[in-house]
Amino acid sequence: MVKLVGSMDKIRIHDKNFRIFIPYERLYKAIEKVAADINADYKGSNDVPVILCILNGSVMFCAELMKMLDFDCELVAMKLSSYEGTVSTGVVRKTLEPTADLKGRRVIIIEDIVDTGNTIVALTDYMREVGALDSKVCTMLLKPEMYHKDVKLDYVAMEIPSSFIVGFGLDYNGIGRNYKDIYVIDE
Ligand code: IMP
Ligand code: MG
Repeated sequence: MVKLVGSMDKIRIHDKNFRIFIPYERLYKAIEKVAADINADYKGSNDVPVILCILNGSVMFCAELMKMLDFDCELVAMKLSSYEGTVSTGVVRKTLEPTADLKGRRVIIIEDIVDTGNTIVALTDYMREVGALDSKVCTMLLKPEMYHKDVKLDYVAMEIPSSFIVGFGLDYNGIGRNYKDIYVIDE
């Protein structure tokens, strides 16, 4: 059997050290809660809501969450980028168009983490631009000390302090997404 990557106390990525912060089991429980809230809100939908996976960071969260959703939904992906190394550049670039037309659809935006909120603001503006019927935001993690935007965050699995983290889809310059647990920078 191949073992899942994680459960070490400390890891090193590029030039930085990280220590274990959120074990997978805790993350899983938090995702279950969010899934239950989404299921309650979308129960008995006549439409097929869109699960909009924001690449690359949200892949693991989105996959985990989708397995718990009990209504018919369609997976659509798009890609945005704003981070370089461990800091947000403040400029959000759309690097891949949505893989389906979102006009007239109810969309649940699936984010890995909301930090400054620049990405989520750009995304909700974009949902209006493309004529989505409704958009809700679901994020695995939120750094509340960093977030001062007006966009409502409808579903938040966990709140964390504003330190840089990796794992469970999140990267440091491309590396670290494959860890099943979340690690925080050790400075
Ligand atoms: P925001 O636009 O500042 O809210 O940042 C959102 C994006 O930056 C997230 O979707 C992540 O991809 C990335 N990001 C923010 N904080 C972290 C972190 O601590 N580690 C890795 N990526 C992060
Ligand atoms: Mg992201």
